[in-house]
Amino acid sequence: MNAPLKNDRFLRALRREPTDTTPIWVMRQAGRYLPEYRATRARAGSFMGLAQNPEFACEVTLQPLARFELDAAILFSDILTIPDAMGLGLSFAHGEGPQFAHPVRDAAAINKLAVPDMDGELRYVMDAVRLIRRELDGRVPLIGFSGSPWTLACYMVEGQGSKDFATLKAMCWNEPALAHQLLDTLARAVAAYLIAQAHAGAQALMVFDTWGGLLGPAPFREFSLRYMQRVVEALKADAVASTLPVILFSKGAGAHLAEMADTGCAALGVDWTIDLADARRAVAGKVALQGNLDPAILRASPEVIRREARAVLDSYGNHPGHVFNLGHGITPEVDPEHVKVLVDEVHSYGRALRSA
Ligand code: CP3
Repeated sequence: MNAPLKNDRFLRALRREPTDTTPIWVMRQAGRYLPEYRATRARAGSFMGLAQNPEFACEVTLQPLARFELDAAILFSDILTIPDAMGLGLSFAHGEGPQFAHPVRDAAAINKLAVPDMDGELRYVMDAVRLIRRELDGRVPLIGFSGSPWTLACYMVEGQGSKDFATLKAMCWNEPALAHQLLDTLARAVAAYLIAQAHAGAQALMVFDTWGGLLGPAPFREFSLRYMQRVVEALKADAVASTLPVILFSKGAGAHLAEMADTGCAALGVDWTIDLADARRAVAGKVALQGNLDPAILRASPEVIRREARAVLDSYGNHPGHVFNLGHGITPEVDPEHVKVLVDEVHSYGRALRSA
């Protein structure tokens, strides 16, 4: 049995219930800006060596919580574990992005793809979730996550990172049925992956649609949103996963918030290109919002960080349903002391905002 939760601010905010202050966690909170992360990664030998070892994954998940008063933990893993388990051969060249030895570009490759076994190839992820839940001992809730079908397809077809993922986009126009077949397989894999994380002990689920914003409005609906919707529906049909709040984060998709709010998710992540007051109007009270400080602001002085954090809190205003976060992941050059400044300011100004 897992210990009862001591800090439920994050889960309450996702349910749009009142909280004593605004909860905060930081995308990529366990990462290279922390010297202790770099030390564990060196011991593990490689990024995948770190992610695939539940003891190491647990250790780095807890590292930022030892330094900062964060209100949630996020499983240490990566969105590319699914394509890796599908046999694409993932590696991270040093200091560079992800690489797949076997990208999928044609019908032969896409026909061969199958949903990985959550108790087989991906068991290490579920073992990490179980271990982290035990070690958290109820301190804060644990977030499980996956990439969105669209974002996973971007990497799988391109074979590596890209500015525009033009290879998958070309497939969408030239061979739409093939693109849909790939996305359909991925939606089933993502749903099974998130359901398995829920069963292993995750307490909230987040879908990273990092590249949804590359698409225009109609293609976004057809190739990204439709498959996230299917994932949300599959989660609702599972007895355990249906009790967990789901956060959808499409980067650069501020124009699509109203439609995304109709998927049945609990919350939407938003980047810094949209004001939270406008985002609140767009979602019309249907979902909570998570965001949206520009991560580059963490490179500014503590005074600027505090001022900009207050501006984000003010833009949401004194309403329930805000989880403070960055608008995208924290970057390696950030001084960890600046994260402490941010977390403490969000909590103290969040309290002041509620008693104003
Ligand atoms: O938020 C957390 O602390 C949890 C862990 C987490 C990682 N990646 C660890 C990681 C999460 C939630 C992710 C998600 C992820 N991974 C996304 C979606 C979120 C986003 O940033 O938009 C994407 C697109 C990826 C794919 C990926 N993984 C890339 C492009 C890279 C290389 C770029 C980089 O930052 O180095 C990774 C590697 C990666 N994933 C690292 C970490 C801490 C750095 C690897 C290292 O230690 O060298």
